[in-house]
Amino acid sequence: MTFVSVGKVLPLRRIHPLTPSTRHMLSAKDLNIDDVDALCEAAQALEFGRAPASQLTGMTVSLLFFQPSTRTRLGFEAAAVALGCHAIGMQDMSASRSNKRSGETLEDCGAVVSNLCDAIVLRHHEVGAASRIASRSCKPVINAGDGWNEHPTQALIDIFALRRGLGTLRGKSLAFCGDPRGRTVRSLVQLLRHEKPAEIVFCPPKHVAVPPDVVSALEEATGRYRIVQDVRLALLYCDAVMMAPYDMSDIGEVASSDYISPRETPHTHKVTAESVAQTQSTALLYHPLPRLDELDPSCDDLPNAKYFEQVRLSKFMRMAILEQLLS
Ligand code: NCD
Repeated sequence: MTFVSVGKVLPLRRIHPLTPSTRHMLSAKDLNIDDVDALCEAAQALEFGRAPASQLTGMTVSLLFFQPSTRTRLGFEAAAVALGCHAIGMQDMSASRSNKRSGETLEDCGAVVSNLCDAIVLRHHEVGAASRIASRSCKPVINAGDGWNEHPTQALIDIFALRRGLGTLRGKSLAFCGDPRGRTVRSLVQLLRHEKPAEIVFCPPKHVAVPPDVVSALEEATGRYRIVQDVRLALLYCDAVMMAPYDMSDIGEVASSDYISPRETPHTHKVTAESVAQTQSTALLYHPLPRLDELDPSCDDLPNAKYFEQVRLSKFMRMAILEQLLS
């Protein structure tokens, strides 16, 4: 085989250097009340067609989902497409070389992928995965769930949907039912610090404690929080109930894991049309979904049910997040 000389040998192109000023969305802790208000306003403007024309036409958003997802992945894809962006990603990250078997680090993955796109949306089973990718990414990284840690964009969606349902969260009482260790709960309590609810009620499984960091964020959010062991008390006394699966122990599992969280929710922790009727509850029901048996489909046609509306609103919040980080 003959090689043709092309003259001077060019140095290998360096991966883009770190840009410390790149803005990411890694944790709800980093968001202040002005950020939340601005994002809710932008999402609402997008919903009602009052937003200025998209600045993101032709940009590319990488969807890196190392863990299963329906809403978050399709939601970001739908949001990207609605803004005139392209969404790229792999159906199955285990088929990529950025996995344990090949040994590529998350840092390298961030450095490489960020040179091929304008933003990265990452879901991963490891706590801190989004920060690791962001540490070497030259484009904004959005944490779409990192193991047991956080899910800040879902929390923004929840605040947007709660404000829509209740008008304001100020002075309202809010319940969290189900596994309190989940990442959606951890991120949402961070944002509740700015919303000044009157009271937070937890209805966790008997065998699971509310994590200490969630308790301290709650103490900052409201002087009053209590733990109950029957969801009917939450239905009776709260303005809104945030549901979550009763047991989310699979949240830190790798995609290939065959571990399945226990699925049976005791009747004390299940919301059904019957329990809503018994308590004559007007509490609005939210759920990041997917649900298991903790929120019965008999609730779906009740005026209390806001969880599918929450999904509809999620697209506008994701568009607002992309606009804010990429513009
Ligand atoms: C999450 C999921 O699908 O895993 N839901 C969501 O993003 N809407 C729930 C979670 O991450 O806890």
